[in-house]
Amino acid sequence: MNKKIIVLQGDGIGPEVVRQAIKVIKAIDSVCDHNFELQNELIGAASIKENGLPITDDTIAACKNADAVLLGAIGDPEYDNNPNTTVRPEQGLLKLRKSLGLYANIRPINTYDILNDVSPLKNERLEGVDILIYRELTGGIYFGEKKLAADGKSASDLCSYSVEEIERISKLAFEAALLRDKKLTLIDKANVLETSRLWRKTVQQMANKYPDVAVEYMYVDNAAMQMVINPSSFDVVLTENMFGDIISDLASVLTGSLGMLPSSSIGADLGLFEPCHGSYPQAAGKDIANPMATILSVAMMYDYFNLHQEAVVIRAAVNWALKENMVTPDITKKNPVGCAMVGDLIAHYIEEKGEVFLNKGQMEDAKNCII
Ligand code: IPM
Ligand code: MN
Repeated sequence: MNKKIIVLQGDGIGPEVVRQAIKVIKAIDSVCDHNFELQNELIGAASIKENGLPITDDTIAACKNADAVLLGAIGDPEYDNNPNTTVRPEQGLLKLRKSLGLYANIRPINTYDILNDVSPLKNERLEGVDILIYRELTGGIYFGEKKLAADGKSASDLCSYSVEEIERISKLAFEAALLRDKKLTLIDKANVLETSRLWRKTVQQMANKYPDVAVEYMYVDNAAMQMVINPSSFDVVLTENMFGDIISDLASVLTGSLGMLPSSSIGADLGLFEPCHGSYPQAAGKDIANPMATILSVAMMYDYFNLHQEAVVIRAAVNWALKENMVTPDITKKNPVGCAMVGDLIAHYIEEKGEVFLNKGQMEDAKNCII
């Protein structure tokens, strides 16, 4: 299969984790006879330095003409503590999401036995944790009108949602629930916010069309607590943009390492794949970043292309590296290996064992990746 992928390495550890993911794409190309064409473009602080903008219109146009986008990470401390900066790396990502219409951000949260000891939760709480978060990504307070009074003494951000915006992502979440444990939790703040009441009403109406899905409604403050004390009670989580941002960071540490969590952002005709972690500037260039989240995001990309076998092979290779303790220092303090080495080992495993997997026709139900 031929595909065109735009690669946006971004800032901090972005370039090094993306380099490992590219090794994996090349390994899959060789084992499966695909031809994935990769084109590098700039985003974030890297783009500001080069072009004065966190993303250029040319880069957005290139993404629109591609089949998918692979992104590393965005953010640079230079901009973080300076509220007067008008150009920020993050604006590049927000503009990209909006311009490409990537309305659904999908974040699977799985635990790995081998990581239980690095998780902040007790082992018994981690049993059976398998959550799939659907976060709305192009609406809400992130994109509403922003105002700063002329005297600088007051400011506002508008949160607004339309029924159409709620329905299109809810449909994806209901469909995913049907393929999993058939439970969906809508996280909102309907006791306070008008937009949350619209979410609840819309989802309640849609629930009639999905009688097999058990729908639960939960206020976001309670959800934050339940995520910690009873994470295995969640299956598919559906929520708006800002709540999804916060809840998914919370959920991501259940695993033990933020460095394990992939994500996809899906629109009508394009997918963007990126790790959930940030640019981790302190680690940049030190070869200590965990590339697995980016590699697992690439697995989600193959699922998106309906190349499920390829995704299975990649996940098997990651599981193998975990089992063999071929992991970065976020996971083990005992003889950790470097970021580049993890990439090499996983790519090598795919080259050596990929064919075995493909011939066996092993198929997972891909339940974490139905997008
Ligand atoms: C994320 C990030 C972004 C967000 C930032 C970088 C704008 O935190 O992808 O979760 O808030 O959406
Ligand atoms: Mn976030």
